[in-house]
Amino acid sequence: MFSFDRRDFGSDFTFGVATAAYQIEGGQRDGRGTSIWDTFSATPGNVHNGDTGLNACNHYELWPQDLDLIRDGGFDAYRFSFSWPRLIPEGTGATNQAGIDFYDRLIDGMLERGIRPFATLYHWDLPSALQDRGGWMNRDIANWFADYATLVANKFGDRLEATATINEPWCVAFLSHFLGVHAPGYRDLRAAARAMHHVLFAHGTAIDALRAAGTKNLGIVLNLEKSEPASDSEADLAACDFGDALFNRWYLGGVFKGEYPEILTRWLEPYLPANYHADMEVVSRPLDWLGINYYTRSLYKASTQPGRPVEQVKGDLERTDIGWEIYPKGLSDLLVRVSTDYTKKPIFITENGMAEVEGDDDPRRVAYYEDHLKAVLAAKAQGADVRGYFAWSLLDNYEWAEGYNKRFGLVHVDYQTQKRTPKASYRSFQGLLHNTR
Ligand code: FCB
Repeated sequence: MFSFDRRDFGSDFTFGVATAAYQIEGGQRDGRGTSIWDTFSATPGNVHNGDTGLNACNHYELWPQDLDLIRDGGFDAYRFSFSWPRLIPEGTGATNQAGIDFYDRLIDGMLERGIRPFATLYHWDLPSALQDRGGWMNRDIANWFADYATLVANKFGDRLEATATINEPWCVAFLSHFLGVHAPGYRDLRAAARAMHHVLFAHGTAIDALRAAGTKNLGIVLNLEKSEPASDSEADLAACDFGDALFNRWYLGGVFKGEYPEILTRWLEPYLPANYHADMEVVSRPLDWLGINYYTRSLYKASTQPGRPVEQVKGDLERTDIGWEIYPKGLSDLLVRVSTDYTKKPIFITENGMAEVEGDDDPRRVAYYEDHLKAVLAAKAQGADVRGYFAWSLLDNYEWAEGYNKRFGLVHVDYQTQKRTPKASYRSFQGLLHNTR
């Protein structure tokens, strides 16, 4: 059980759980188009054990029991994502009625249970047909994405409590086009530089489209890390500054100040789209809220390899099952920093949680949530306007390149039988939230 009381967070604080379409839905039929994750995962060597999202948690059929779990846990809100290829199989053009019907049922199912829908438009499942046209490397994606946003606004917008454009643009751009770890698996600096700009430009055009269609309460979800230097040496401090720019300041600066860090534009200048400056007003359209996904910190040291700007070293903090250091203080530091330097708008923690070995008894996860929720309270006490917290994740699910091997759920999933079993961490939230909805 957690040691604090829900009232410590204030009466308007939202507690929720988060998931993403490709990670839980399965149900790849009824007219759904293919996405870059279908082919990336089908390519040997990309994903642990060759796992794919073909079946995942079969949320496509089992969503009523999953929504019951959210309600029974006492959660106020559910952060989910729309699958672009389920709604528009080729990415542009014809829509898929079965996909529209699915999200109609899902959203109505939330509202019937008193769960407030927090939607994300893009959580990484780009329609393959758009990748064929260059995906995030092609500037036209700003129009494709805006048209998709308009469809979502028209069909569902009036029932959504909050809508985010992009989940974790650093992953969409750098992890997927420079590090090659996620779909489409590129390792190319020009591809990455273009994606880094286009993902934020498309975010801005989607904000315009959503506002034009009357959808309210719009934001973006950034993954931020606490960047720290491996030592106090000047070289390591400079490396940390570069790492922080690449992971945090590119996105915070772009979205809230309409400018990218100079240390990066100098590096990327030859590869960025020629007239990117002209787009910065769209990139920095005013938002209603900011979502932050927080998991860990990074430790930077000066690079010893030519052509590589920074290196990371392993810290000595306790680690989760996916190898990420557990560092709650990083969350309060980031929240205070963002609300001091970037925005006074309401902040939601849109993801936080840990991978743990399989089992229903997960005391380390309970402690992780306890310590990170306390970090949120500490940041609030220092003036950060944090309005909500979403645990990642409701269910054990398809953890991208790690496949089904890494489990982040409050609820255990047996992938053979699709049986859901609440873990101790789920019961801790239930104890905190019970009877307060
Ligand atoms: C985040 C992703 C989410 C999940 C967690 C563990 O980067 O947004 O889909 O995989 O990490």
